[in-house]
Amino acid sequence: MTVENQLKAAAATAVAHPNIALIKYWGKSDERLMIPYVDSLSMTLDILPTVTTVRLGPGERTDQVTLDGAPAEGDFRQRVVTFLDLLRAMAGRDERAVVDTRNVVPTGAGLASSASGFAALAVAGAAAYGLDPDPTALSRLARRGSASASRSIFGGFAICHAGQGGGEAADRSAFAEPVPVTGLDPALVIALVNAGPKAVSSREAMRRTVATSPLYQSWAASSKIDLAEMRGALHRGDLAAVGEIAERNALGMHATMLAARPAVRYLSADTVTVLDSVLRLRADGVAAYATMDAGPNVKVLCHRADAGRVADAVRAAVPDCSVLTAGPGPAAVLRTEAGR
Ligand code: DP6
Repeated sequence: MTVENQLKAAAATAVAHPNIALIKYWGKSDERLMIPYVDSLSMTLDILPTVTTVRLGPGERTDQVTLDGAPAEGDFRQRVVTFLDLLRAMAGRDERAVVDTRNVVPTGAGLASSASGFAALAVAGAAAYGLDPDPTALSRLARRGSASASRSIFGGFAICHAGQGGGEAADRSAFAEPVPVTGLDPALVIALVNAGPKAVSSREAMRRTVATSPLYQSWAASSKIDLAEMRGALHRGDLAAVGEIAERNALGMHATMLAARPAVRYLSADTVTVLDSVLRLRADGVAAYATMDAGPNVKVLCHRADAGRVADAVRAAVPDCSVLTAGPGPAAVLRTEAGR
């Protein structure tokens, strides 16, 4: 690399968006390599991007990490440093980095996403360290930060393969790729019922579910069927089928957690109130289907044309919740100089 290119490569900014899984990833077969136990499928959102800059600091002795302008601490900082160590090993370089990451999230929304965060860090970090991965390699790289981040490398709908064969073979085969979808104009209406921190991290909750829940293996088996049917429903552009499959897959995932020992319960009374409002919408003929992740917030899949009505119903059910509406969003990108 010329000196000029090296200087150029030494700082990079990337933008990535969160994604919401319609077929969930829950549980790892290898924690070190971050290999998901099951395939998953998601929609990348067009709201709440993360913008991350990675600048190499040859003179620095340690990595510096800031999150929304404040020095990052604890587990988050450690996960970023571990990820930078991986980038350094891949690039055969040893410079420390200055990482600035910003989430465009309404204050206290409780939706800060490790998916958009590690997708943006993978894209910016790879460029800063002079790596030039193709989208599959980028997705595998992002997975090492957070498995759901592998899907945020792509826009629209993406499937993440669980990874076959264990060890290096699993590492090579666990990546996301886009799923072409036609004839759907969907929205996700996001009901933020609680912005507070999680009682149990999703990492710990997954570990506990896989190790102790008697329902986990049967959910994983039924999830395979859900995925096959979901692909067909997306291919047909059949929103009602997509929603039905997504809702049963999410409820099944939460059932596995409830059966863990001790139980992991993310769903709150407000969550159930929103779920009831979704059932009422369906009874009134509106195609609306719910999915929930490692927290009490509810994401309601519907036709974009129905998003206003769905948002009103959710607000009426839980008057103090905030509601956001998202559509399918773009792939993670490196920002050009002009865009900075
Ligand atoms: C419930 O990707 O945040 O949102 O891989 O440990 O970082 P780590 O977990 P993470 O888990 C996401 C779980 C989920 C379902 C999903 O997004 O598929």
